[in-house]
Amino acid sequence: MKRLLAANREVSVADEKTEPKPLRIDIVSLFPGYFQGPLDSSILGRARNNGLLDVHLVDLRKYGEGSYHQVDDRVYGGGPGMVLMAEPVAQALRDAKASGEGKAHTVFLSPQGAPLTAKRCRALAEHEHLVLLCGHYEGIDQRVLDKEVDEEISIGDYVLTNGCLPAIVLIDAVARFKPGVIGNDDAANEDSFEQELLDCPHYTRPEVFEGEKVPEVLLEGHHEKTAQWRRSQAVTKTQQQRPDLYMRYLALQDSGLEVSGLAAKRDHFGIAKQGASAIRLKVRKLRTSRRFYREQLGLPLESESDTEVMFRLGSQKLILMPGLQEPVVDSPVLLETELTSPKQLQKLLAWAEKEGRGGALPQDGDPTGVPAQAWFHDPDGYLWRVRTV
Ligand SMILES: C[S@@+](CC[C@H](N)C(=O)[O-])C[C@H]1O[C@@H](n2cnc3c(N)ncnc32)[C@H](O)[C@@H]1O
Repeated sequence: MKRLLAANREVSVADEKTEPKPLRIDIVSLFPGYFQGPLDSSILGRARNNGLLDVHLVDLRKYGEGSYHQVDDRVYGGGPGMVLMAEPVAQALRDAKASGEGKAHTVFLSPQGAPLTAKRCRALAEHEHLVLLCGHYEGIDQRVLDKEVDEEISIGDYVLTNGCLPAIVLIDAVARFKPGVIGNDDAANEDSFEQELLDCPHYTRPEVFEGEKVPEVLLEGHHEKTAQWRRSQAVTKTQQQRPDLYMRYLALQDSGLEVSGLAAKRDHFGIAKQGASAIRLKVRKLRTSRRFYREQLGLPLESESDTEVMFRLGSQKLILMPGLQEPVVDSPVLLETELTSPKQLQKLLAWAEKEGRGGALPQDGDPTGVPAQAWFHDPDGYLWRVRTV
């Protein structure tokens, strides 16, 4: 495949100076035909025509052995399926790497890889030359992966028949971060995941659709109010749809780490202040909540009566009182405590995951490590972040 525009017009010296360098992508795959279509249409097609993306297909079959161009063989040790052989993959990758000008970064698309996230896409868009290796069958001989691949990336926790679709997904997601690919470069910064939040809802004409009006604030032309409304919608949506992201967002607000872009407003979320001497929580069943806080969280009990149970939570008192009718949906506080052992965290995590009430909190820099932080909604719906000491 060719960079169409660059091939079809004269490029002046002035043009050459100002034109951004294209991102060169070589895709090593057994099925080059797979890529006809997705890379030709819409924004990706335009980016290629405009010389921002320079995509090349490397047919792995051409590197096969013998007259049948064999590229796969049976798996050592027995078992079903075939494995792509090291030799043809190594040759194809080496040729692909040598074909670009700058240093190539080689990615193997694999369900065992690190998750493809917006952050990872942004980093990949910084490279001059990406070589994408698509697996087929059971996988690829490990020795060539060890020698030639810089990182393994997965597009999700499921297994596809081959790596072509994952490669297309990666190219699409990475291209959006290449300046000039989407019309307005700022747009990518406002999409989901960029502010640790999902995007807000969007509306266009007509003003009334089947009786439903566009939110009034969007018609007023007041920029600050619009921005505030959009942010609070994004926060609510994230909390409802992706509590894991929401917890991460809260954790970043609270830790003082800078959240990129829009100013973080901690107070907006009513996070329990360290300074307050007591936090009072209404609960549905005093006994149930008491047991949960004592056994699962190991909080020290200070006093109890029929109408009140008091725990110590760091330097504060946590006072439980009956009176809650329904579980809290939109928790007004983020409660925090430290657990004494990783085992306790594991137990709590197992409960939270089984009940669909929470999960591990990703750790910056080590997203794959043993979790040392978790979040969950307690039996009354209050939001907790716990970490091991
Ligand atoms: C059938 S899969 C191999 C699965 C492998 N035996 C395993 O269980 O991890 C064949 C190829 O599809 C691609 N693939 C499948 N699922 C993927 C995913 N979730 N993300 C990225 N690539 C994937 C990879 O290139 C993989 O080598």
